[in-house]
Amino acid sequence: MATTASLKIDDKDYPLPVMVGTEGEKAIDTRALRAATGYIAYDQGYGNTGSCESQITYLDGDNGILRHRGIPIEQLAHYSDFVETAYLVIYGELPNQTQRKEFGLRLRKNAAVEMQMQKILEGFPTNASPMAMLSAMVAALPAYHPELATNDFQKDLKNFDLAAAMAISKIRTIVAMIYRYQKGLPFVFPKQELPFCDNFLHMMFSEPYQDYQPVPEVSKALNLLLLLHADHEQNCSTSTTRMVGSSAANLFTSMSAGICALSGPLHGGANVAVMQMLQSIHDEGDDGTRFIAAAKSGSKSNRLMGFGHAVYKNFDPRARIIGDACDTVLAKLGIDDPLLRIAKNLEQAALKDDYFVSRKLYPNVDFYSGIIMRAVGIPMNMFTTMFAIGRAPGYIANWKEVASNPKGRIYRPRQIYVGATKRDYVPIALRG
Ligand code: CMC
Repeated sequence: MATTASLKIDDKDYPLPVMVGTEGEKAIDTRALRAATGYIAYDQGYGNTGSCESQITYLDGDNGILRHRGIPIEQLAHYSDFVETAYLVIYGELPNQTQRKEFGLRLRKNAAVEMQMQKILEGFPTNASPMAMLSAMVAALPAYHPELATNDFQKDLKNFDLAAAMAISKIRTIVAMIYRYQKGLPFVFPKQELPFCDNFLHMMFSEPYQDYQPVPEVSKALNLLLLLHADHEQNCSTSTTRMVGSSAANLFTSMSAGICALSGPLHGGANVAVMQMLQSIHDEGDDGTRFIAAAKSGSKSNRLMGFGHAVYKNFDPRARIIGDACDTVLAKLGIDDPLLRIAKNLEQAALKDDYFVSRKLYPNVDFYSGIIMRAVGIPMNMFTTMFAIGRAPGYIANWKEVASNPKGRIYRPRQIYVGATKRDYVPIALRG
């Protein structure tokens, strides 16, 4: 394999080093390009730019491969649960029994959210976006735990285990609090003895004098949903977390920025958009034909939500797992969801349609995740916050890589300026 690439500008050759990852991914190292040639590499949206070296997740979009720390997502979905996968993503290895116990204990002990922080939540209008509330609450965490969030990598890394557990556990609690606040219900305190997902369901759905009774199928479905979101390489929100972290911002602040990035409908917000689309197909009594026809117009506002992916160009392995799980979960819970039938019809129709086939547009994880969340009882406006709970381990692992890299630099892309060239200031009276 080549070890050097060569760039020819006019008649001068510039050698550029070649990098190769452990799975054979190749890159041309352009870090010295500008200094050597005066040129920068242009890559709008960074689609062809490796912004970092990472040991966390391997993703091969052409072949539908996703592995965390080397372990295929299919195996994790089958054998693991969210908490164990979170440990793997963050620490690089599957935990042994002691490590698993200690990690679980840290999560349990750090689940509660400070009483004063509840007042922040209560300052929001009840109809505010749950993602706006979640990002604000996570951004507020450093104020309540300044010892874990000093904005000094060395100090923050010393307290990393505690901060990481706090982030995972509290984000879950905050999501449940947002749900109850919007419904006008009193907050429910976490119970230390409950497993992660059951504790979440308890904080969401317990009633006065009647605690939520765990249903194994529901806990399993929720575990799977969160696990499938645990990390996803350099996606928009994870890259945002890394970018903010690269300024030496603490873990919570960096994660809050990631959560903001996640909220957009082309990223984490897609799961809401999918359900809205399925619901409106259902309400209109359509079989999806009109939606497919509109999606082919090329307009961004008419896209078939839950279809297509920036990197998967064959299939999204998470979509396969979650699509299969939908049938099992709904059957076990005795739910017959007409939206699942619409989703399946839509998928079949699109997969036969040349527009989608030729553009390599396949269902992504969000196409079916909403159906599982609906079955579990999560309202649609909370879907993206569920994605955030699931993605927390990925944000944490990526922040840690940034913080632990002694050679790390602040993220600072360049641009090609295409605005006005130099011109003089004109006083307001003379501006016509
Ligand atoms: N429906 C209809 N046409 C589409 C769609 C879609 N969902 N997605 C892409 N296209 C078309 C697009 O119009 C373009 O057509 P043409 O070549 O004629 O101009 C072609 O396919 C390539 O599109 P692109 O915008 O270059 O694709 P991208 O890789 O930049 O965008 C995407 C990826 C996920 C933003 C996009 O596919 C999309 O908007 N999908 C719907 C939203 C969605 O489901 N997002 C969730 C992503 S998975 C969760 C996550 O990991 O964040």
